[in-house]
Amino acid sequence: MITAEENQQLSRVGKGTLMGNFFRQFWMPVCMSSELKADGDPVRLMILGEKLVAFRDTEGRVGVFDHRCPHRCASLFFGRNEMGGIRCAYHGWKFDVTGKCLDQPNLEDKSKYPAGTPAIAYRVKESGGLVFAYMGERQDNPPELPDIEAIMGDGDDRNIALTHRDCNYMQALEGDIDTSHLGFLHVGGIDGEKLDLSDPEVFTITEKAPKINVTVTKYGTMYSAQRNAYEGTEHHRFASYLFPIWVTYPGGELDSAVTANAWVPIDDESTMIFNIDLRRASGGGKKPFKYKDGTPVGGLARPLEYLPTTTDWKGRWRPVKDRSNDYGIDREWQRNGDSYTGVVGVPLQDQMIQESMGAIVDREMEHLAASDRMVILTRRVMLDAAKEYAATGKLPDFVDHPEYARDARGGDIVVPYGTDWLDGYEEKMAEVKGYKPKMAAAE
Ligand code: FES
Ligand SMILES: [Fe+2]
Repeated sequence: MITAEENQQLSRVGKGTLMGNFFRQFWMPVCMSSELKADGDPVRLMILGEKLVAFRDTEGRVGVFDHRCPHRCASLFFGRNEMGGIRCAYHGWKFDVTGKCLDQPNLEDKSKYPAGTPAIAYRVKESGGLVFAYMGERQDNPPELPDIEAIMGDGDDRNIALTHRDCNYMQALEGDIDTSHLGFLHVGGIDGEKLDLSDPEVFTITEKAPKINVTVTKYGTMYSAQRNAYEGTEHHRFASYLFPIWVTYPGGELDSAVTANAWVPIDDESTMIFNIDLRRASGGGKKPFKYKDGTPVGGLARPLEYLPTTTDWKGRWRPVKDRSNDYGIDREWQRNGDSYTGVVGVPLQDQMIQESMGAIVDREMEHLAASDRMVILTRRVMLDAAKEYAATGKLPDFVDHPEYARDARGGDIVVPYGTDWLDGYEEKMAEVKGYKPKMAAAE
């Protein structure tokens, strides 16, 4: 469906590449706010293939820099974070969080260098417990953060989990919009006959071949997976892709689930997943599926265990179970049918599959089917938008209309049989939000 050349364009994210240039025009989450302590150790981050250093100054402000000192390119990671700035360990030049040079103590005649030499510093914002960097062209006039519900607010009221994954961002993101795998990879070991049907989400287990509806939206794309539900009703499971790397995935019922994943490219072959879930932290929480006899279905949402954090560019949030130990696969458990995979928990199951495709999947080898309509549409929308930016400099309107993101939620609804999928979504969102969104983008 896409050519080898387009596969390269979709996958490569470094400076100067098609997608890399496009992505830089949007805010990217780079770490959790809690990872940076005032006057604490600088942290190495790699984003879009760029080696960065992040630190929080004495007043709590955050700096995100190219890690190389502008004097002679020593890494500022080894610098001293002290008294309102970071001081390079080589000759002592000091920079505040905006990159402004505050001191050049090795220069005899300081009057010759009154303004100093700035470090390459990116624009930074904090919201929802996350640090965001803007690496794009509008450093003097950056856009606003997108109004994604899960990243608004102070961050204390949500669960945030980061995970390093050793594969290209796009095959990982595609896992989030490839809805039919749910019934196999994650819940294929559950006997649907025995399930308590009072939770409408069980239809994602009992009906393995949903109809996929897709549309282009003002912020990207959205789908519903449509299934027959209770007598005279249908179940829809919605999710949206938002430029450039966001998915509001279905995390429960549409009126209460507030979730998002950001699939942030570390470089071409590794990804940092930012998983944010507001609803779970706000009390209710997704209840485990139950069998008719009341016993809960176990093993689905087991949290990951992480290796100790290192200061390496890729040393944060790495799971203990990985390809080196085959993700802890238990073949007997897989054989006896209790588990489809023999691997514990949704995140690790996804990791196993996505990394197994290779660092960058060769999409010429694929044979896509009707179940892949959302994946096909989203690739196309991303490539078209990036190509338009490269050719004309025009970005999607969403960049300067952050409010478009307010209409994007993931989740489940049950509607009377025959209800149009977008009408069903818009009506439910009108109940939640007090206004009725219009989801399909005008042609
Ligand atoms: S290289 Fe940083 S002060 Fe000289
Ligand atoms: Fe998955």
